[in-house]
Parts: sequence; structure tokens; C-alpha cells
Amino acid sequence: MPGLLLGEVFPDFEAETTIGRIKFHKFLGDSWGILFSHPKDYTPVCTTELGRAARLSDEFSKRNVKLMAISLDSLEDHYGWSKDILAYNCNDSGNCTLPFPIIADRKRELAVTLGMLDPDEKDKDGLPLTARCVFIIGPDKKLKLSILYPATTGRNFDEILRVIDSLQLTAGIRVATPADWKPGVCVMVPPSIPEEEAASMFPAGVYSKELPSGKKYLRYTPHPGIQSEQKDTKQSQDQPESNPPPP
Ligand code: BEZ
Repeated sequence: MPGLLLGEVFPDFEAETTIGRIKFHKFLGDSWGILFSHPKDYTPVCTTELGRAARLSDEFSKRNVKLMAISLDSLEDHYGWSKDILAYNCNDSGNCTLPFPIIADRKRELAVTLGMLDPDEKDKDGLPLTARCVFIIGPDKKLKLSILYPATTGRNFDEILRVIDSLQLTAGIRVATPADWKPGVCVMVPPSIPEEEAASMFPAGVYSKELPSGKKYLRYTPHPGIQSEQKDTKQSQDQPESNPPPP
């Protein structure tokens, strides 16, 4: 079955969750959203993932991102499992609620609609479990990014925060982020922006890397909005020292 395509409006599904019945778009409001699926409650990798997401919840809130998990088990299982996840996180505050809801998709309807099932991972009855999907949805409710991991590979939530930073930056400014980019590091000026326009768009400077082809398509500019940290580091018109482009 075809998956969801980037740029499509994300389905406005209704679901039972640990915070009650929700309509997804209303739950998101004006925020960004991350919907991430899990094969099963009370499983080790999933427990580490939800634990990590819970520990990073302030970082997601700072970025105006709401999280929602989905797993195929019952609400009762979700509540019981939440306590284990919090204990795994060494949370001894007495709070037994995760900082994000978990959808109880017992009939797998949502998992099927959203193309989340992994045919290689089956439960004890031989039914496929959900893969580890990550859907990132923008405030316009459109799908901005999707990543799909098999059940046997846990996700890296620092990477998910990193892509949020890239998505939010590039949603507002015509730049792109290079491999392994992190906030504060130079960004790329896309080839679609002519040289003169780029110079006026990025007053902190546009640096191009000399290449054997002689083509000037590897163009960098300091991360917009935090130029002050970069000022002293502008050393050559060819290559900014503190944000070295890859060799
Ligand atoms: C886990 O979360 O540990 C897991 C779940 C299903 C298959 C393999 C691992």
C-alpha cells in the first residue's frame, strides 16, 4: 500500500489515547507534531525509546513540537507500561504520566491507514506489528518528513531533534542544511538562488568552495540569525574556519 507522501496533508484521524479521545489536527493546534509508532508495549527497545522521548520532552516543547506515540496494545497496557518507562528513566517523583499521549490502536486500523505495519515482525498470533515510523507534521498539517525503522533498530531522538531544527530553519529561510549539520554551523545556499540575490539575502557572507569542476554550487552562509557568534571566525572568502565545509 502506498505510504504518505511528503507535502500531503496528514490524515486527521480520531483515536483513543492515554489522555482521552483526540482528533489529531485539533491536538496539534498550531504546533509542529511528531507521531512515532512502536511495535509493542512492554518491549525493551520501545521502552528505551519512549524513555528518551520523555527525557527530551522539554527540548521538543521549546521547539513548539507536540509528541504522540502509537502502539497496538490497550489503554490499560499503556498505563501500566508508562510506569515502567518512567521507572527506567529513574523518575521517582511519583508522577506516573508520560509527557505525551500514546494511542491505543488495538484493531490496527490506524496502523494500516498510515502504512505502519512491518510484515517481518509478528506477534504471538502471527499478526504483523508496527514498524518504528517517525512522521513529522508542520503547523500547516502537512507531512514534512518520514523515517521508517524496523522493529529491531531503535531510533536516535537526538537526530529527530536535529531534523526538527533543520525543518524549522528551512521552512522560514531559503537555505538547506548539509550532512551532519547542527544548529550554529553554516548552512547551504541552494543553487536556485542567483549569486547577486544570495549576496543580498545573506549579509553575513556567502562562501563558495573551489571545486575541480569550477562550478560554484557548494555555497555556504553562517546559520542565519546567529551571525554574531560567527563574526570573529570569518577568515577567508573561501572557507569559514569555524564552520568548515566538508573536505
Ligand atoms: C523491542 O521493542 O524491544 C522489540 C519489539 C519488537 C521486536 C523486536 C524488538
